[in-house]
Order: sequence, then C-alpha cells, then structure tokens
Amino acid sequence: MLCETKWVRSATTKSPPPADQAPGPILHLRAGGVSLVLDVVGPYLPRVLHWGADLGQLDADHLAALDQAMRPRWTSNSPDDPLRLSVLPENSHAWPGTPGLAGHRDGRDFSTRFVVGGIGQSRLPDGTAVVTVAATDPAAALELGLTFEMSPRGLVRTRAELTNAGGGTYYLDGLALALPVPARAVELLDFGGHWGHERRAPQRHPFNQATYAREGRRGRTGLDASLLLIAGEAGFAFRRGQVWAAHTGWSGNHRLIAERQPSGERVLAGGELLMPGEVALGGGQKYVSPWVYFAHGEGLDDMSARFHHFVRTRPGRPAGPRAVVGNSWEAVYMDHSLARLIDLASAFAEVGVELFVLDDGWFRHRRSDTAGLGDWYVDPAVWPDGLHPLVDHVRGLGLEFGLWVEPEMVNLDSDLARAHPEWIMAAGHRLPPEFRHQQVLNLGIPEALAHVTERLDALIEEYRLTYLKWDHNRDLIEAGDQLTGRAGVHAQTEAVYGLWEYLKRRHPGLRIESCSSGGGRADLGILTLADRMWGSDCTDAHERQAIQRHTTLLVPPEMVGSHISADQNHQTQRRLSLPMRAVTAMFGDLGVEWDVTGLDAARRAELAAWIALYKDWRELLHTGDVVRTDHPDPALWVHGVVAADRSKALFALVPMATSMTSPPGEFRPDGLDPDKTYRVAPLAPPGRTGEGHIYQPPAWWSEGLTASGRVLMGRGLRAPELPPDSPALVSFTEQLA
Ligand code: DGJ
Repeated sequence: MLCETKWVRSATTKSPPPADQAPGPILHLRAGGVSLVLDVVGPYLPRVLHWGADLGQLDADHLAALDQAMRPRWTSNSPDDPLRLSVLPENSHAWPGTPGLAGHRDGRDFSTRFVVGGIGQSRLPDGTAVVTVAATDPAAALELGLTFEMSPRGLVRTRAELTNAGGGTYYLDGLALALPVPARAVELLDFGGHWGHERRAPQRHPFNQATYAREGRRGRTGLDASLLLIAGEAGFAFRRGQVWAAHTGWSGNHRLIAERQPSGERVLAGGELLMPGEVALGGGQKYVSPWVYFAHGEGLDDMSARFHHFVRTRPGRPAGPRAVVGNSWEAVYMDHSLARLIDLASAFAEVGVELFVLDDGWFRHRRSDTAGLGDWYVDPAVWPDGLHPLVDHVRGLGLEFGLWVEPEMVNLDSDLARAHPEWIMAAGHRLPPEFRHQQVLNLGIPEALAHVTERLDALIEEYRLTYLKWDHNRDLIEAGDQLTGRAGVHAQTEAVYGLWEYLKRRHPGLRIESCSSGGGRADLGILTLADRMWGSDCTDAHERQAIQRHTTLLVPPEMVGSHISADQNHQTQRRLSLPMRAVTAMFGDLGVEWDVTGLDAARRAELAAWIALYKDWRELLHTGDVVRTDHPDPALWVHGVVAADRSKALFALVPMATSMTSPPGEFRPDGLDPDKTYRVAPLAPPGRTGEGHIYQPPAWWSEGLTASGRVLMGRGLRAPELPPDSPALVSFTEQLA
C-alpha cells in the first residue's frame, strides 16, 4: 500500500524531458496575450528579457535588439560587470538581493555559479509550451534542472530540481524562483486575513526599495495567506492597468517576495520555506521545488482569468454540473442521530440539494472536538448499524453521499494517540501546543501513512463514497519527527499530495474538497488535486463578498464552496435576507448549510426557487469569465460572469453599504461583446421580482431593454437604488437578428 502511494507521488514529480539542445537561442514563448522572452544563450542560467504583454511575432534580429535594449550598463560604485539577474538569482553574478539558492555542504559550497549544459523544448497535448534547462556547478557538485511552462492562456509557471552530485550531505536552506517586472510596476497588492476572514483585506503599498515578503510558516497555506503577490502600474484595478502576479503552489511553508534593488531591478519570487535541516540531500538525491506561478494581466481580472483557465483545464476535473452540496455542520454540528439526519437529508432534497455531506461528528469518541480524531471507525454508540441506514436513505432520495474526514490530525484523547504516541509530530521530547485540542499525525512515518490510507480506503469502499470533505484544522507547530528529531513539514506536505493522488487513482470519480478551518489550504499545490475548497468558516454573505472577491482572483469561483446558512449567521450574528445569502452563494459553488427542517413550506419553496435559479445559470457561472467591475461608488460592488462566447452574462449588483449618491451612478457590464446586441433584464426566481428590495428602480427595470454591448459597456446602465446587503441580479442575453 505504502509503496504504491510513494510510487504515485514520484511519478508526478518525474524529471523534465532531457535538455537536448546546446544553449544558444533567445526563446520567445507567446500565448493568450502574454510574451515570455527567455535568454538561454548561456553559459549561465536563463534570464528573462521580458515577461508581460504580447510583443507580437519577433524574428532573431528583433530578439537580439530586445536583448540589447535591456542590457544593463555599468554605474558608479557597482561591480565591473553589470549584475546578471537569472531566474534563480545568484550572488556569483553580483545579485545583492534574495538568493535563488541557499544551502551548503557542511558550511562549504554556499554559493553557486551554474553553467547551462543544454536546453529542451516541447509542447504538451493541451498546447502548453515547455522549456527545460539543465545546468551544473561542478565546483559545488550540484546539478540544476529548470522547467518553464506557458499555458495556452499565458500563465507561466516554473520549478527547479536540485541534485547533490557530490559526496557528503548538501543542506538546502531555501530555493526561490524569480521573474523580473518592469519599472512601471510601482505598486504592490496583497491580501490580509485570518480565521473567518480569509483574504478579506486588500493591502496596497508602493513598490519601495526593499524586500517585501509574505511568508507562511503554519505548515498549511494559512488562513492569513495572501495567495497572490501582485505588482502593477499606478492605480491598477480589476479592469485596468498592467499587473504581474506571483503565486507559490505549495501547501506547506512557503513565501512570496517582491524585491526592488537600488539598481532598478524589481522581481517577484516564490518558493518553499524550509525549516532548518529539513532537506538534507545525500549524494545523488534530488529536491523538487513547488511550481511558482506567474500571471500577467491587463487589469486583475485578466490576470485572474489565466489562473482560472489553468485550473479548469487540469486533467481529472469533474465533468458535468457541480452538485449542490447540503452540509450537516451548521445544521446539527456534532449532535448526530439517525432520525435527525434523515430529516435533514429529506429537507435538503426538497430544496434541491444533490450531494449530502455528513460533516464532523460521525466517528468513534467524537462527541466534541476534544476527542476522537484518528479513530476513523463509525461510532457504534451513535450508529449501531453503521452509516448504512443514512447512506441508503440519502441515495434513495437521489442524492450522492459524502463524508467529512481530517486524516492528518489526532486528538490525544483517541485510541490512535494512545496506541502510537510516537506518530505525533513534535520537535523532540515535548508535544507542541495543542490547537483545537489536536495534534498532527506524522504522515512522513510510513506506518502512520499506511494506517490512515487503509482507514480511508475501507470507508470509501464500504460506503461507496464519491466525495470527501478533507479538513485540516490546525497550524503545524514544531512539526518534526519525534524519533529522528528532524523537521517534517516538507515530508508531510508531500505525503498528503501522494495520499490524495493514490486515493483518486484507486477510487476513480472520487472528489475531494480541501478544507482547512475554512479556506486555510487554498494554493495550487493542493488545488490541482482538489475538486473544491471550502471558502471560509464564515458563512455570513456580507463578509463572504470580500472573501470570495479576492480568493477567486486565484481560484475559479465554481471551486469555492459557498453555502446558504441560517437567517441569523452563526459566526457574526448578522441577519441577512435570503436573496443576499443566495446571490452570494450563486457566485461560488453553491450549497446549503442550515437546518432547513425548521422552515415552513413557503420558506422551503423560496429557498428551492433560488436553488433552481442557480441551477439554470450554473453552467455559465462555472465556465465563464469573471468580471469584477471598478465601480466608482465603493458602496456598490458589481460583479458578474460572462460566457466564453459572450452570448450571455449574469451580473450581481451588491450594495455593501449605503451609497453617497442617490441613486448610485451607472454600472458598466464589462466583458460583453461590443458587437453583439443584448436583452437586458433583472433576474429573480420565478414569481418574485425582487422589487420589494429596491428603493428606486431605474426606468428600464420593469420592461428591460435591448442595447449593443458597445453602448452597455461604453456608457453603462443606471443602477437601482438598493438597501444595503440587498443585491439585484441582471441578465444579459444575446439577441440574434
Ligand atoms: C472546520 C470546517 O471549516 C467546518 O466547515 C467544519 O467542517 C468543522 N471544521 C468541523 O469540525
């Protein structure tokens, strides 16, 4: 079992194709409106001459001219040869900033000067262009492989493989890959947040002469992770200004850096953050870095669309519409009983739920969050016949059945912790501080990984599970192997990826939702394997507007779970209307997490009508281009999704506060086809106009109107005056002549 798990992982981190050409050319990769010009002339590591807007067709002379145009010159009090900034910046070329590689062999070989031996070029079946570079530093006895990819939509990603080609141990302290951004990238944007508020707060700063780093040392992506570090032209916004963004696709410790040197160089860089001694390469051993992603855009939406396209076209994406989830957590928490959950499943089915997820509380000893994690057996005290009666009922209703698990964690009050205290991650002979009463199971220990794998396999098989909600509710603190005393976040992260790959391969069709106290594990390391992420433990729709607005800059909205929850929100105590809760969830992966058994028939019908409306539009919502307009009134957020062929669009007008003007200014539905004619109409569930929520509808509201995309986007439409947190939907449908 274990060997198989390991085998799967190593297959996905296989070496790049061999570097079969001698270094020589300047390469120009172009796709989706982006150019990446790579100088692989050698003899040293590749430099990026341009990453940004498409430069058009360039012949060898043009590329040579570009090289000349960008060549640095000597300035006072600087190295005699101008510094050379490569993708793995090296101090040996006078780079004074964050080094691409940090490591040593017992204190020696602390600095490198790699020489390129060959390059390779290929194309993946989906059109992705691939460039590989093989380099060596014989003096330091290191070999380096670099891979660059440009997706058909212009997303660039790169990663490195470092091999210890000498004797002794090479201790890798860090590896970061960097791309330069131009001088006109004068502002930085990233996001702050915490539990229940993931990425809620945009942080904008000048791109100063400094090293600005967002580092995550929590052993998971982190509830506070920005996900993206963005540089851009002055005043860049969703729809305007050139931007350059970096993302590290890694679910363990990681960093993103923006660095500006006095000599003018500006770089964005990313990589894994390694704990002391964590990666110790013996002779012939190799470290494979995470992918670091780089996306350029004309405005944030354009940048974001490259990520969405990349994630949407990953092999193994679920086919067909995404099922409406009904999750038991905020409905019953851990108060599990067959009768109650049967009623809940029936009520979920009545309102249109398609996938019932039984959340935390079903396994042995789990009557509260202080016990049971690790004991992945159905609790016979609560479920004398196992989960079968519930599963059969759910399937009888025509719903799929999914189960919550948290396999990387263990409560000290569990049979597993009592049997194997040595499987708990720790730095030495003391346990790390508890966190939600739990500790971390060391999946770097083969027997621990095999145990968890066996339990999951058995549950999936017994209940024919097609869906797991996979939780991870604590930071990793002093995360090491008790027996060796070595740090273990890297190994833990690799083990989780390997386990997911194994489970998905062994159980075709299995979908996994990545949850980590909400949106705490949301990077493209896990999300290229996951089918969904839980957006946030905060289900308050007002708060969710900001969380989803920023999280979906990286993650396609249909992967961000967004649930309609109780009238009075459990996290904030705020009461929001059903339209606000439903409209917010529609622009994610809509689900219900609410004890709807208590609703009378009229309220169930109202909820069912919203879910039916969502189902009518979900194909568009889950495949189209996301538009976040730059509305001049900060009180009114206007966002939408436009079909790839521009034939349809759905926009939400969300009043986040009261406006300073009455009515608020017009809104412009960006992203339409200027040459198409559209029928514009407010949208609400059948039988409901939504007008009860509008103070002042504009003149066009009752009859709708027909206009060209050019007029609609060029001049805009008067917006209705809406009370705070009372959104309106507007649909745009192409009118064929
Ligand atoms: C944290 C998750 O984010 C919640 O949705 C829920 O699954 C709880 N864990 C269960 O413990």
